[in-house]
Amino acid sequence: MSQFDLAGEVAVVTGVLGQLGAVWTETLLRAGAQVVGVDRRADAGPRLAGVLAGQEPGRFHLLRADVTSHDELTASLCRCRELAGEPTVLVNNAGIDQPPSAAAESWEFEGIPREISSAVLEVNALGVLAACQVFGGSMARRGRGTIVNIGSLYGGVAPDHRYYEHLPSDPPFIKPPAYGMSKAAVAALSRYLAALWGPAGVRVNTLSPGGVLGGQDGQFLAKFTARVPLGRMAEPADLSGPLLFLASDLSQYVTGQELLVDGGYTCL
Ligand SMILES: NC(=O)c1ccc[n+]([C@@H]2O[C@H](COP(=O)([O-])OP(=O)(O)OC[C@H]3O[C@@H](n4cnc5c(N)ncnc54)[C@H](O)[C@@H]3O)[C@@H](O)[C@H]2O)c1
Repeated sequence: MSQFDLAGEVAVVTGVLGQLGAVWTETLLRAGAQVVGVDRRADAGPRLAGVLAGQEPGRFHLLRADVTSHDELTASLCRCRELAGEPTVLVNNAGIDQPPSAAAESWEFEGIPREISSAVLEVNALGVLAACQVFGGSMARRGRGTIVNIGSLYGGVAPDHRYYEHLPSDPPFIKPPAYGMSKAAVAALSRYLAALWGPAGVRVNTLSPGGVLGGQDGQFLAKFTARVPLGRMAEPADLSGPLLFLASDLSQYVTGQELLVDGGYTCL
């Protein structure tokens, strides 16, 4: 059971201030790790404050950095060493998406502006690559570490555009293709680095959540959950175990894999 224990580990979580950043942080803190959270925003926000309230103080540090900036990531690595020590776990979670909502801007597929696609690829794919270069490179030089790249269901399957037909958007809302493209790239990068850094003692895997419950409208929820064998969206508690598995020695012979936490969505 000591394989669950992350005491003495220093975990870096990017995009820590969002919905799932709080889930990963709480999981890692509870397992005993110190957590260095990185986000391009600086305001901690109520979600993370709630997580930290129940924890022993001094085991969480928040750093401001943009994952698209190699310099800011390098500065974060230096600060991480000063505050907590050498990073041994990296959770590449920072990402941007366009959630389905009536208020979201919409385009015909042919008219999606290049800037929209490149912004998503810049953060979700190249930002993960940059964080792996900076933090993962340090782990590889020291001969130990584990990287969990956060992918998505949509890296492997297409979004079903019928989920959005009820939205009053004109043209009809479609999920930007760059999101799934970026997440497929994340899974490919995990495999690439697993091969490169296996001999150096660094494991690299992808954790791909399915739809996570969080403010979606009722019609979307009904259509989406009808496709999920477990009959519901993911909740935070559904994601903690898979992260702990991939971040700890529980998965010591697992690398280059994608763990789909999707309630069975992709088995149909
Ligand atoms: N929530 C879901 O339903 C879901 C499902 C599958 C996968 N995911 C993936 O999980 C991850 C987290 O999702 P979330 O729902 O918590 O998103 P979120 O929007 O709530 O949070 C994302 C966080 O990343 C930060 N961020 C964005 N760009 C950044 C940058 N360039 N540098 C540093 N920080 C940056 C934001 O400030 C924010 O705090 C994402 O990679 C997302 O694609 C989420």
